[in-house]
Amino acid sequence: MIFFQISASSGQNLCYLIGDEETKEAAVIDPSGEVEKIMKLATENDLKIKYIINTHSHADHTAGNNELASKTGAKILLHKKARIKKDIDLSDGDTITIGNKKIEVIYTPGHSPDSICLLLENKLLTGDTLFVGECGRTDIPGGSSEDLYDSLFKKIKKLSDKLEIYPGHYYGGQKRSILGYEKRNNYTLEPRTKEEFIKFMMED
Ligand SMILES: [Fe+2]
Repeated sequence: MIFFQISASSGQNLCYLIGDEETKEAAVIDPSGEVEKIMKLATENDLKIKYIINTHSHADHTAGNNELASKTGAKILLHKKARIKKDIDLSDGDTITIGNKKIEVIYTPGHSPDSICLLLENKLLTGDTLFVGECGRTDIPGGSSEDLYDSLFKKIKKLSDKLEIYPGHYYGGQKRSILGYEKRNNYTLEPRTKEEFIKFMMED
């Protein structure tokens, strides 16, 4: 798999360009305003960008969607609850195909009602649901600690320890981690009841 992590110049955002080495089909996850960098990398690697996928509809992640779509003809994909311009609605369990590669959609609301994580081979792109050593905030419009609890504890924590984690921001400097390490060391994933987690998120 072709996999690039691009650090955006603002907001400590992370954008991803992934592609199938055989067919050269590619997808961009969260352009984050870095259209020029993305286009340069795609050209250098002979990649044809087929999809632009957003982990959620917050503007720091979707910046560049339309410009990149008009430059490449790529379709914009977001969870069906997203209220911004998109071509294709995503739902939990959907599979997105890039050449011979498959990306699975895991619906993980909490940070926003339209948050998703994306699973491709051994990599989990977590958007603003889970960061290295942190989790997404919920004290914003559309945020829900109750939903984030279900997403983190009933979905993400059930996935394989071996998965590599690639978040939507690099708060604290780390740009990737391993899910097993996060389960053991990320203080937001410590065992808690839903009530305890909601209280914890209010204190945090
Ligand atoms: Fe966000």
